[in-house]
Amino acid sequence: NNIYLDYSKSFIKDHELKSLEEYINLSHNILHEKKGAGSKYLGWLDYPQNYDIDEFERVKETAKKIRSDSDVFIVIGIGGSYLGSRACIEALNHSFYNQLSSDKRKGPEIYFVGNNVSSTYILELLELMDGKNISINVISKSGTTTEPAISFRIFREYMMEKYGEKAKERIYITTDKEKGILKEMSIAKGYETFTVPDDIGGRYSVFTSVGLLPIAVAGIDIDKLMEGAKEGMEEYATLDIDSNYSYQYALLRNILYRKGIDIEILASYEPSLFYFQEWWKQLFGESEGKDLKGIYPSSANFTTDLHSLGQLIQDGRRNIFETTINIEKPKKDIKINKDSEDLDELNFLSGKTIDFVNKKAFEGTVLAHTQGGVPNIIINIPELNEIYFGKLIYFFQKSCAISGYLMGVNPFDQPGVEEYKKNMFRLIEKPGY
Ligand code: PA5
Repeated sequence: NNIYLDYSKSFIKDHELKSLEEYINLSHNILHEKKGAGSKYLGWLDYPQNYDIDEFERVKETAKKIRSDSDVFIVIGIGGSYLGSRACIEALNHSFYNQLSSDKRKGPEIYFVGNNVSSTYILELLELMDGKNISINVISKSGTTTEPAISFRIFREYMMEKYGEKAKERIYITTDKEKGILKEMSIAKGYETFTVPDDIGGRYSVFTSVGLLPIAVAGIDIDKLMEGAKEGMEEYATLDIDSNYSYQYALLRNILYRKGIDIEILASYEPSLFYFQEWWKQLFGESEGKDLKGIYPSSANFTTDLHSLGQLIQDGRRNIFETTINIEKPKKDIKINKDSEDLDELNFLSGKTIDFVNKKAFEGTVLAHTQGGVPNIIINIPELNEIYFGKLIYFFQKSCAISGYLMGVNPFDQPGVEEYKKNMFRLIEKPGY
């Protein structure tokens, strides 16, 4: 019962992995000895063991308070400041969490804003908040990112109108320990703050308060999540590509990249993994896509997308490989009953479960796509729970760091993201631009 990787359908032979083993050793060493590019940002590497216990306990207490005094919890952040928590909440909670009755949900509805600049989105979210008790968590390491900053201004005004001076008891800020506009504002206004560690970049920050506060507010067990992360930290530190699946994954995609296959589709058969795929895209896209290099990370949700992208994957240009996340045991399953009339002619499935059909769709798709020449890497997860999810996040973080070093880039910076920001600042006439 563990996460394991199957590359038997990747068209990669064992000797290809062996021939690049030295490169993995090198990447592992520079990562662990903190000698590689971006080594100032390696706080995530042993964070599951070295995290700030006091802050962790404060996250749990605050989450408890928010769960008891709020009907709606608003998370304001963009990129690494929201994707991890959203991925975890959507993967582990009920598919229709926000629509559940409050006695079933036992915590607030959760909405994300500040990850776009859509006036319609902001206004329609405000409409939902009428007559409800609200708490807000603003998450921004720099404190200056425009999207969350603007949303915070709008929501702060709303909170002030609704609660007056007491609004400050419902506004929580996650930002730099001592500097930045948000920190200064929190001191001036008396908002409770949580820390984004200096040495952890946004996309590697799920296990810090950035991810943990919203995750805990959603009622997810963050002790177990950290336990899974710690398991991952230990297991994926071994220098053995046969048993270290995280390194194996980095190597496999690097081998495919060297063959000119530079589009990766992260596929899943569970719709609840949609935001996990979004988190993964950011992790790999922002970490590797630089210096004119990079694998384009994309995602597909099957079987839905088999009816849209399936044709292209099967028959289009052969520059794609797939990595499929296979959840072995679903959270819930339902049996297909016998129908005495059988007008839909589905009685051949009676006694089988819906997940049985899903698994056959998965097997049939891997068979078809590999026959069509698309290499497939399969990552098997026993089930979606806190422990495996924590471990899976760590699996990809570690793999991404190693993968970046194999590619010869700094996996911890994002100089390209700054370009649009500067242009936008100039165009909205921000002083100094
Ligand atoms: O991963 C990253 O570093 C980025 O995606 C950031 O998380 C994103 O740009 C938001 O930045 P900030 O938290 O400073 O508002």
